[in-house]
This record gives sequence, structure tokens and C-alpha cells, in this order.
Amino acid sequence: MHRYAEQLMDEMLAKGKCELMNEVATRYVTLVIADLLGVPPEDRAAFEDQIARGQTVGSIENIEDATDMEAVYFIGGYMAKYLEERSRNPGSDLLSELATATYPDGSKPELLDLIKLATFLFAAGQDTSAKLVGNVMRYICDVPGLQQQIREDRELVPWVIEEVLRLEGSTKATHRLAVRDTRIGDRKVPAGSQAMLAIAGVNRDPERWGEDANEFKLKRPKIREHLAFGRGAHTCAGAPLARAEVITLINVMLDKTSDIRISEPEHGKPGQRDYPFEPSFIIRGLANLYVEFEPA
Ligand code: HEM
Repeated sequence: MHRYAEQLMDEMLAKGKCELMNEVATRYVTLVIADLLGVPPEDRAAFEDQIARGQTVGSIENIEDATDMEAVYFIGGYMAKYLEERSRNPGSDLLSELATATYPDGSKPELLDLIKLATFLFAAGQDTSAKLVGNVMRYICDVPGLQQQIREDRELVPWVIEEVLRLEGSTKATHRLAVRDTRIGDRKVPAGSQAMLAIAGVNRDPERWGEDANEFKLKRPKIREHLAFGRGAHTCAGAPLARAEVITLINVMLDKTSDIRISEPEHGKPGQRDYPFEPSFIIRGLANLYVEFEPA
């Protein structure tokens, strides 16, 4: 992670500015997950291109087709090839683990299930982690005094990330299908119905977080009780990875600069910013974030 973060930032520093979402954040998280899974370096450009072309998950502009199936099939095709290769010739990556995994009774999972799992693992952490990088950087640049404070005390970086996950976690909602009649609070949920759970709303609930729930507050007590990664049996499997990715990239950005600023020509002056959010009912994040740097 550190190496990729440094490489990307060195490229950007040479220009003194960048569009953080596409030039750094998405490329970075794609390289990291590709490494962990074991996607060969020569195929990664094709993945990056496909992801750059695809629409954001949960698009409200294309509601009939809110999931980009083209990208899923594209990535799935590659995963099928890798899994077949690794089952014959396993290495030390995650794809090899999947390809050689067995159920407790010794039977092997269907190849199609493994392809879906590998594709989901690759895709699940793309937009979410990349959008979190943008959301965190926006707060670091826009909250008065915050950037200086975390430059002086890096222990605060994870606190900033947790508070941004609460206020603007990159997943706004998760869904459940009720398999039997049940209740959520005092609301009846009949078997067969679907529930959309508004994580973004829960994370700003004044009954839980107090009257300042809508405000950014550093070192908020019990901050890790936010629900940005869900809760229970289906808690985000990639939460530790996402946290490590964003902490590493933000620290490298701080190391290599003495100041990071939001571009005023692109987003306007402080207090009058104009940010292009993705039109999605699932993802909370920016389509673009233009920043300028002062090298360290
Ligand atoms: C900031 C980044 C991320 C956010 C905000 C996020 C958020 C979430 C949320 C809200 C859920 C649903 C939880 C539920 O329904 O109870 C989830 C599930 C999941 N996430 Fe993430 N995620 C992030 C990054 C990642 C990464 C990097 C990976 C893996 C590489 C990943 C893999 C998964 C998987 C496999 C599940 C399904 C778990 C299950 O159903 O058992 N996520 N994530």
C-alpha cells in the first residue's frame, strides 16, 4: 500500500495538483486489491479502463439498470481464467486460496460460486474505499485548522477517518430480504419483503450521537460504534483493509506535502464550495475532487 501510495503521489507532485478521485484514489485501491487477489500486473490496465468506463453503483440516473453488469461480467471473465489456473498451480495469493478451498465435509465449491466471490471481493472495495479517500480529504481541507492539527499529530488520522465514516461513509444504505415475518423497531416486516437500511441516517441520529450529530467532531466518544460498515453477521469483510488503505494513503499525502488545498477554480472558495457528488442512492462520494499541493 505504502509503495503504491508513494508512486502515485510522486506522479501527482510533479504536476503540483491532481484530480484526486480518478488520478489517485481509484487507481490506488484497484492496485491494492489486485495485488492481494493476485491479478497479474499485465491485466491491471484493462481492469482500470473498465472501472473508469463503468457507472457508479446504485445510479439514480439509470434506475432500471442501477448495477453495472458489464463490469461484473468483464471482471468475472478474468476471475474464471485465474481460478482455473490457480487450481492447477496454486500460489500464495487470495485467488489461490479460493481456488483450493474446500467445505468442512471436504467437497469443493462450484467454480461459478468462486467466480462470483472473487468478482465481488474485487468490486466491493473499489468505489467504497476510493470514495472514502475523497470524503476524508474534503474534510481535511475544509475543516478550519484540521489539516495542521493532524500534520502535528498523526495519531489523529484514524479519528478523522472514523468521524468521516460516520458523517459521510461511502455506503449510504444496505439491504435485507426478510425470510420470515419480523419487526424492525415497531414496524412489521412481512416475510418476502425487502428492507433498505439507511446507514447514513442512523449515523446522524441525534438520539445516539447527540445534538451535534451533523457536525464534524474529532475524538467523538465511542466513534467506532458507527454503522458505516454495517453490523452483525454481514459486517463488511473489507473494513480492516479499507481503514488500512485510507490511513496509509492519507499519511503518505501528508508526508509528501506541506499543504494540500481544494482547487478554488474548480470548487469555489471556502464556505461556497461546489462539489460534484455521484448521483447514487447507495454511494456517498465525489465524482471529482481537484486538489493542489505544496511539496514538503
Ligand atoms: C470505505 C470502504 C467500505 C465501506 C464503507 C463498506 C461498507 C460495507 C457495507 C455497509 C456492507 C454491508 C454490511 C451489511 O449489510 O450489514 C459491506 C459488506 C461487504 N463488504 Fe464492504 N465496505 C468498504 C470496503 C470494502 C472492501 C475494501 C472490501 C473487500 C475487498 C469489502 C468487502 C465487503 C464484503 C465481502 C461484504 C459482504 C459481507 C457479507 O455479506 O458477509 N468492503 N461493506
